[in-house]
Amino acid sequence: MSARIIDGKLVAADLRARVAEEVTRVKRDHGLTPGLAVVLVGHDPASEVYVRNKAKQTEAAGMTSFEHKLPADTSQADLMALVAKLNSDPAVHGILVQLPLPAGLDSQAVINAIDPAKDVDGLNPLNAGRLANGLPALTPCTPLGCIILTKTVHASLEGMNAIILGRSNLVGRPLVQLLLNENATVTIAHSRTRDLADICRRADLVYAAVGRPEMVKGSWLKPGATVIDVGINRLPGADGKNRLVGDVAYQEALDVAGAITPVPGGVGQMTVACLLVNTLRAACAIKGLPAPSV
Ligand code: GUN
Repeated sequence: MSARIIDGKLVAADLRARVAEEVTRVKRDHGLTPGLAVVLVGHDPASEVYVRNKAKQTEAAGMTSFEHKLPADTSQADLMALVAKLNSDPAVHGILVQLPLPAGLDSQAVINAIDPAKDVDGLNPLNAGRLANGLPALTPCTPLGCIILTKTVHASLEGMNAIILGRSNLVGRPLVQLLLNENATVTIAHSRTRDLADICRRADLVYAAVGRPEMVKGSWLKPGATVIDVGINRLPGADGKNRLVGDVAYQEALDVAGAITPVPGGVGQMTVACLLVNTLRAACAIKGLPAPSV
């Protein structure tokens, strides 16, 4: 058996096209141009690539992109002052501070300072709490992308056994809530979990978000399971260049899973597309317009 490959590139392109259509509509009907501010502190090469990509796709969707690049030795006070300025800027509807921040900066204090209405990362405790209470909230982009990809395989997740490997605020914890909203039965596993392979083998849906290259083996999977690989790990390849691998041993998993996301070309593509969705939703909510259709 060879698993169906879930094409994140295609799904993300479709989502971006739908966002662009809605942006055209809100511009035309309401004079609203959604604006996204991305703040990058320091020179982490992977973060620089992500931020460039976010800016490009924001503009391609017809929104305004505001990029703020700050030196690695930026003080906490200066970063907090920038967040306060963006909070009160009417052209900015979404604020994303790229993580991780350089050592010495307090990420949680920065996240807490972002206006929850502009918190397109869904990391502010108000949005995280709303999500945990089953209330409408801006939701972290990667878990949102994971759910959309899962639904390309299963129209309903009701009653399915899901396992999430990893309990980060950015992925694992919000994904629990989103899966509960879909009426799945959810297990969250982490570095202290015992008998991980056995637990994994009971799952219909496997979400790997641990940041450990190829940790999930083919033998850990239930035949036919849907596997969503959130990992993006850089390993030195035989040709001296880095190659990207996920948290799942892809070749092995292909023989067991029913459907699987590749790395690259899976979840990674969805994160930015969902960021555009959140920016559009935030802009409409701030302007007092009905929620967009996307
Ligand atoms: N770094 C890696 N992924 C993310 C993300 O989704 N949001 C932020 N702010 N930083 C990240």
